Amino acid sequence: VFDKNTVITVFGASGDLAKKKTFPALFGLFREGYLDPSTKIFGYARSNLSVDELKERITPHLKKPNGAADDRKVDQFFKMLDYVAGAYDQDDGYSKLKQQIEEFEAERGVKESHRLFYFALPPGVFLDVAKQIKKVVYAEDGVTRVIVEKPFGHDLESARALQNNLAPLFKEEEIFRIDHYLGKELVKNILPLRFGNKLLYSSWNRQRIQNIQISFKEAFGTEGRGGYFDNIGIIRDVMQNHMLQVLTLLTMERPVSFEAEAVRDEKVKVLKSMAPIDHNNILIGQYGKSEDGTKPSYLDDKTVDPNSKCITFAAMAFNIQNERWDGVPIVMRAGKALNESKVEIRIQYRGAESGVFADIPNNELVIRIQPNEAVYMKSNAKVPGLSNETQVTELDLTYSTRYKDFWIPEAYEALIRDTLLGDHSNFVRDDELDVSWSLFTPLLNYLESPEGPKPEIYPYGSRGPKGLVDYMKKNDYRYTEQSYTWPVTSANPKK
Ligand code: BG6
Repeated sequence: VFDKNTVITVFGASGDLAKKKTFPALFGLFREGYLDPSTKIFGYARSNLSVDELKERITPHLKKPNGAADDRKVDQFFKMLDYVAGAYDQDDGYSKLKQQIEEFEAERGVKESHRLFYFALPPGVFLDVAKQIKKVVYAEDGVTRVIVEKPFGHDLESARALQNNLAPLFKEEEIFRIDHYLGKELVKNILPLRFGNKLLYSSWNRQRIQNIQISFKEAFGTEGRGGYFDNIGIIRDVMQNHMLQVLTLLTMERPVSFEAEAVRDEKVKVLKSMAPIDHNNILIGQYGKSEDGTKPSYLDDKTVDPNSKCITFAAMAFNIQNERWDGVPIVMRAGKALNESKVEIRIQYRGAESGVFADIPNNELVIRIQPNEAVYMKSNAKVPGLSNETQVTELDLTYSTRYKDFWIPEAYEALIRDTLLGDHSNFVRDDELDVSWSLFTPLLNYLESPEGPKPEIYPYGSRGPKGLVDYMKKNDYRYTEQSYTWPVTSANPKK
């Protein structure tokens, strides 16, 4: 119904997120034919920019896989774009915006408005904008949707306050809390893999699985973002949101349907089954200079407190108290300034029974979210030829070789499209947010109290704090002697 004449307004249009993610995602959808050319897009921000200046800022971030053909699409896309400058907390700018939206809708003969407002905003102005939208540009006849970005609060109390302030303004069905990890292709594949494959489903439990790891590694530090990060830390930045979402999808029970509320009901249920995070079973770190001295330490950043205890690496274990998972350590580990950039899920199965095989490596199912999306199962097979030895090999679904001709949308493209269609499946519900903060807030309070432990310093470019291997062993992850690296071919490059 709404494919035509939708009005999308991006607040915070002059900022980093809008420039690098929001506008490029809108363009990507347009390029692929998933955003109708009749759509109108407004950028809104405080800066006194011309629309041409806005275009200049966005241009370097637009992806053009088809060269010149895409240049033409950029021109068409830019024809849909306008810019309104205005304060976030006063009527003026919003009145201008309202007038322009109304003119556009009148010109197109729109009877039922479809207005989408995207908050690419710092948290400090969040509520002001929400209030003004409601007051000035809310579609009285039609549909209004708002996409809000993290941070949704700083802890349980502030998240509840934010929620209580938003609730009177917008109905839950109008709010889309974006967690861009839910738009990633392999995160969206978790439920189909689990529930569509009897082989996996029937072994997805504590009887068969001994450890689950979700790891997030970035090869760069907080350079340039220290001011933002110092008050946040890695736990709030990626664990309480992105990684917990992944964990939830991996461990929830089968939903009665793939309808949004059915999925989210199950997510909330499993979150509520999680035991409090054990403060004695965590590992925390902060990066120091690289071993060769060329990369800065976290504290070298002039914008951070020189005595900062900010955590840039953390590992913690979750225990889910239900029949399926009780006793299986589910380890979440995340770090900045590590040896590589990679996000993956590793499910380690229990060892084969002894007898014919003395010490055969455990099966592992790996879901590599990025880079180079893949699902592979580390398995044991006979060494080909006359040998009777076994060797670790893999059943391998590498996307770049198996799905050569597919367009795999960027996370933001997939999620903005969902919002346009009104589909909440891949967005965070209010009660889900509440439980996730309930889970993390006691840990954060402990870590941030004066008695809280000091993070261990690890070198920039290393694998993280020294204790990591022992920590993983303590949490039932078995390292095996046989050396194994997942093969990386040229069709399957290591990014
Ligand atoms: C953001 C965090 O939410 O996610 C960043 O604020 C992090 O610190 C980023 O780098 C990771 O997202 P992606 O899609 O690059 O893995």
